[in-house]
Amino acid sequence: MRILGISGSLRRDSHNTALLRAAAELLPPGVELELFDGLKAIPPYDADYDVPGRLDPAVEALKEAIAAADAVLIATPEYNHSIPGVLKNALDWASRPVKDNVLRGKPAAVIGASTGLFGAVWSQAEVRKVLQAIGAVVVDRELPVMQAHAQFDEYGNLHEEDLRGQLAEHVAALVEAAGDRDCAPA
Ligand SMILES: Cc1cc2nc3c(=O)[nH]c(=O)nc-3n(C[C@H](O)[C@H](O)[C@H](O)COP(=O)(O)O)c2cc1C
Repeated sequence: MRILGISGSLRRDSHNTALLRAAAELLPPGVELELFDGLKAIPPYDADYDVPGRLDPAVEALKEAIAAADAVLIATPEYNHSIPGVLKNALDWASRPVKDNVLRGKPAAVIGASTGLFGAVWSQAEVRKVLQAIGAVVVDRELPVMQAHAQFDEYGNLHEEDLRGQLAEHVAALVEAAGDRDCAPA
């Protein structure tokens, strides 16, 4: 099973990207997580270019990566109590065409880290809302990582056993959702 990890932060030393890397270390056997690294290249959404033959290659790469994955794990920072623009923009591109967009029916889960005390709970809730609007099968749980600057060691591992356990459970719930989908009658 392949999970596509999408970090909503472009920052080189992003705590959210680190969280996805930590998740990759906690996967059950037979599951791998690939990090999507093309978010920065995605242009602002423009319906005039959202037509066959005019799609930007960066948008095509995003759609292909999502389509090829069994599930999607998004790690989002919180910007002004909401979703970072680059992430919302990418989800907007992925949401079209409405009827058979690449996220429709796709198991998806959301985690988030912020340097404040709330662990990006608002932006996680908003990303889940947007994913639901798009038609993804969204795992109904959150993983708030607060004071993210203090949570990782120099190798990017989470200090706290408890947090590692929560992250492992979160990923396991996503894997289960993806497994259920594989077993569902056509
Ligand atoms: C434009 C901007 C707005 C922010 N707004 C919030 C916010 O509303 N709530 C919060 O907890 N942190 C906020 N932060 C702090 C981010 O959560 C923090 O920088 C976080 O580490 C960003 O994620 P990253 O490390 O993955 O880049 C904001 C940061 C920026 C740059």
